Amino acid sequence: MATQFTNESLSSLTADWLVLGLAESAPLSASITELDQTLGGLLSRLIESEDFTGKAGTTTTLLGITEINTPRILLAGLGTAESISLASLEKTMKTAARSISSKPDTSIVVALPEVEKSSLTTEQFATVTSASMIVGAVGQDLYRKEAARFPFQQITIAGSGDAAECQQAVDRGTILGESINLAREMVNRHAGDIFPVSFADRVVEVAKSTGLEAEILDENQLKQEKMGSMLAVAQGSDQPARLAILKYQGADASAPTLALVGKGVTFDSGGLSLKPSDGMKTMKCDMGGAAAVLGAMNAIAQLKLPVNVIGYMGLVENMVNGSSYKLGDVLTARNGKTIEVLNTDAEGRLVLADVLSFAVDRGAANIIDLATLTGACVVALGEEVTGVFANNAEWSQVVQDAAQASGEDVWELPMFPQFADQLKSDVADLKNVGTRWGGAITAAKFLENFVSETPWVHLDIAGPAFASANVPHREGGGTGCMVKTLVEVAAQYGSTK
Ligand code: BES
Ligand code: MN
Ligand code: ZN
Repeated sequence: MATQFTNESLSSLTADWLVLGLAESAPLSASITELDQTLGGLLSRLIESEDFTGKAGTTTTLLGITEINTPRILLAGLGTAESISLASLEKTMKTAARSISSKPDTSIVVALPEVEKSSLTTEQFATVTSASMIVGAVGQDLYRKEAARFPFQQITIAGSGDAAECQQAVDRGTILGESINLAREMVNRHAGDIFPVSFADRVVEVAKSTGLEAEILDENQLKQEKMGSMLAVAQGSDQPARLAILKYQGADASAPTLALVGKGVTFDSGGLSLKPSDGMKTMKCDMGGAAAVLGAMNAIAQLKLPVNVIGYMGLVENMVNGSSYKLGDVLTARNGKTIEVLNTDAEGRLVLADVLSFAVDRGAANIIDLATLTGACVVALGEEVTGVFANNAEWSQVVQDAAQASGEDVWELPMFPQFADQLKSDVADLKNVGTRWGGAITAAKFLENFVSETPWVHLDIAGPAFASANVPHREGGGTGCMVKTLVEVAAQYGSTK
């Protein structure tokens, strides 16, 4: 469904709902003032009486409106003009979308916030608003007979900006929103639905619908490619491993290639180092890195960015059977390094090891990997912040700037050489776990062994990929985190390389 931008006045548009995002203690914009007059001063009276203040996170519902063609109005507080950020705007707009999407076939008009003194541009307001309406209206209804949330049947975004530029910004938001929802859906599907083969099938479907080129390596090809580390993890599962690759060429063949690498453990039981029940409950989310890569590739292709990007999704299930890989096993990774397995629950790094060196061999100029890699990262940074680890400060800065420009919170952790000492093995080149301390960093130091000299950033999304509960601005479950950031990196990469 295409979201329309229009310059028409708010009082002339017809829909089930009108959404007005208003800033705190700020004058009403010209278009809202005109609407207020049509409504007989209702809005200014509500503000005067402090029944609506514009404080961030607050909403007020007005029903039975007869003066205009939208019988219901949702007022959503944006906070003070100076405090509005991409992230706060997104929260407000998603809160609004979530509170009016409980009925099917709902049409909405959203007034594009026009806030004096805001640091955001009109285009940013337009992109975030359209993306948020699309993300906020989709819940976790994949398996429910009675859905709790329904995508809007029609979204119209009204504002006074240049119609062509705003429509473009709205379209960008639509593509981002749908790509985030794709990543969320992949995470929200249980492991009986999404396993390596079915994930790869979906990759092929996305390729067909977007014009991306897909390549799927099966277990025999992975063996030929000497992916002994990744295949060891898959050994304990009835589900064969896959490596799914999506290629996008938006620039000359001679331009450098950006590689996006995702951990796609479709279920992580821990293997023989079995997780306790509580820790296993959400482990369908362990392919969140691969889902982010899929979502980002979907968006990059639709946005036709002038850049060359390849997405690699390493797909395995970490299970227990008579063939499971065992503690003490020594694996030979694709790049020839040997790895002593001392914990089969540290499987993500074993998958990434081979996929990273494969991406290097295929000619990646810069790499970003994404993985729900360590509980330690969640301990360090909490559930909403992505950990950043890098072997190259400049490339790390590019990724962090893109995250900032996308309203996603990231924080860099140090890659001091002494952390690598924890990974020294008596019998192999490396062991796959360190001590309890600094576990997110030792995981990253492990990965560093498989990227050669290629500028590389590792994003640990173990916290933000999956939300344990619903909050007003966000549905629980898969979040689609880092899709926006990856798309922003690709856009920057295309314009500078
Ligand atoms: N998939 C988990 C990490 C994880 C934890 C993701 C919580 C999302 C939420 C990963 O494979 C894992 O089990 N890591 C171990 C590593 C340890 C054995 C060194 C961990 O974090 O406990
Ligand atoms: Mn694990
Ligand atoms: Zn895992």
